[in-house]
Order: sequence, then structure tokens, then C-alpha cells
Amino acid sequence: MKKRLIAGDRPTGKLHIGHYVGTLRPRVELQNSYETFVLVADAQALTDNFDNPTKLKDSVTEIMLDYLAVGINPEIVPIGLQSAIIQIPELTSYLANLVSFSRVMLNPTVKDEIKQKDMGNEAPFGFVAYPVSQAADILIVNAEYVSGGDDQVPMIELTRQIARRFNNIYGHVFCTEIEYIKGTFGSLPGTDGAAKMGKSLGNVIYLSDSNDSIREKVKKMYTDPNRLRANDPGTVEGNPVFTYLDAFQEQCGTQILVDELKERYRKGGVGDVEVKKHLTEILINVIEPIRTKREELQNNMDYVKAVLKQGTANWQNQAEITMQKVRNAVGLYSID
Ligand code: TRP
Repeated sequence: MKKRLIAGDRPTGKLHIGHYVGTLRPRVELQNSYETFVLVADAQALTDNFDNPTKLKDSVTEIMLDYLAVGINPEIVPIGLQSAIIQIPELTSYLANLVSFSRVMLNPTVKDEIKQKDMGNEAPFGFVAYPVSQAADILIVNAEYVSGGDDQVPMIELTRQIARRFNNIYGHVFCTEIEYIKGTFGSLPGTDGAAKMGKSLGNVIYLSDSNDSIREKVKKMYTDPNRLRANDPGTVEGNPVFTYLDAFQEQCGTQILVDELKERYRKGGVGDVEVKKHLTEILINVIEPIRTKREELQNNMDYVKAVLKQGTANWQNQAEITMQKVRNAVGLYSID
């Protein structure tokens, strides 16, 4: 029997090549060997976008197009809409009792987000508590593996703790051996060299970008700031142009080319313009088929909607099975 894996994204905009390398490509690689559940986490996104539900609603469509365009196979992978799976908030309300307030407040990812988003003391209670709801996402399908970025690790640790506590108090319902699966490459920096690619930072290449836009963005990419001329020796490590080349070399079979470019770059034997020309070609090779597929799907929105509806129904079925066990295990008074 295949092991079950869950992955999810907050729908706050179109997905970019950082998502692709960090979580979408691994998901597509794993979907045949793991029984994969994908969640469009719109309820979680609402916890820090409560004043902009329209953005989230519109982004659900964008994310669906991105998912299907990169090759997530909806025949085997149920893609569920979180806000429509009402068993998740039901489970959250049970799980929230099994974790202390101070433990929730210690989550390093949430702390980082509060800082990044400048929430200060105004962080909504729902936002601070979202890891508990994420534990419910994971446990409601009894996932043994969670795929995503490193920032998901604290959520997985919390989920394990809560699952153990639940089983100890109410009897065995949940699998407690929940593992994190990392993509083979890790994460991509922004085109400006910032550690993360982010829409608000303006350093993003989208899976829907045109070839011209890819060309423009690569042209403006940050490289080695200390290198003034093509025949100066340059630094490859930490140079985002080379990090991008590394990220795609296996997929595109360009190892030999990339090794050779690195060698010449270190010696001062190649200019940024030439390296960027290769990167542009590689990115176009990767993105163009995704964009084309995305455009085809955009002309077939009935299909895209049906995929989400069916996927959500599959999620709901699984969620209801788990909740029946949970309700029985907790054993409150039953009106039936
Ligand atoms: N927290 C994840 C993110 O910000 C999204 C997410 C929600 C998720 N529920 C999940 C990821 C369950 C994995 C499993 O990207």
C-alpha cells in the first residue's frame, strides 16, 4: 500500500518558479509513489488576509491552473478546497484543547511571519492559531508525509505532538509518525538575490510569464556585484544566476554546460550576458510548455472547476471517515 502524503498552498496569487522548484516539481515526482492529497488552503490564507477575501477567491483559480499546468494529475491526486471541507474546523476545535497557549505562541515560522508582515501585537488570534488548523489538515487525511518548504517543519512537529496527545487521552485514532519530505533542490532565491522569491518583493518569475518577460527579468538579475568586467574572475557560490542554473540542470540535462560555465566564470572567461543567455533559454524551455498548458486550461474552465469539485468531494469523504472516528473516540453525548 502506498503511503499517504499531503501538500498545500495558500492561494494568495499565481505560483512562481520558487514554488515550482521548492514544492510543485517534487510533488509531481512523488505523486505516483505516494497517495497524494493536495489542499488549496484558502481558510488558512484568510487568517492574514481576512480583509481581502476577493484576492483569495481569484487566486484559487490561478493556483488550480498552475497545479494542472505543471502536471499534478487530478485522476490520482484529490485537490481539495479547504474552506469547503467543514470537518477541518470541526477537528481543529477538538485539537485546539490539546496544545497550550504558550506552545502555540512559540512557533518559529509564525513568529517570522508576524515580523515579516509587521503585525506586531495586532496579529489576529486566528493567524497565531493557524498551525493547529494545519495539524487538522494533516490529521484529517491521516497523512504520514508532508511535502513543502523548511518553514513547514514546526507545523509537523506540532502535529505529531497533538496526535500523540489525542491518542493518549481518547484512544488510538491518528498515525503519529509524520515525516517531512523535502524537495531535492531546496529553495530558489529571488531574481535580486534576496533569500526568498516573493510577490511583494518584486523579484519573482511566474509560471505564467511570457518569453519576453522572462528575458527582461533575467537581464536584470543580480549576479556577482564585485565583478565589473567579463574577464574578471567571478563568484559562482551565492550568485542567483548559477543557483537557477543548478536548479534546472538535472531536469534539462544541462550539467555539462553548467559545469563548463562555472569553470569559465571563476576564471573570468565568460560574461554575465552569455551566462544569462543560457539561463534565459533554459527557463523558457521549462516555462513555455507550462504556460501553454495553462492557457489551454484557461479556455476550459469548466474542466478546471470540475477537478476542484471532485477533489473536494474526495477530501470530504476522507475527512468524514476520520471525523466519525474522532467523534466516537472523544465520546460526547450523542443526540442520535
Ligand atoms: N502552511 C502552508 C504554506 O503556507 C500551506 C498549508 C496549509 C499546508 N495546510 C497544509 C501545507 C497542510 C502542507 C500540509 O505554504
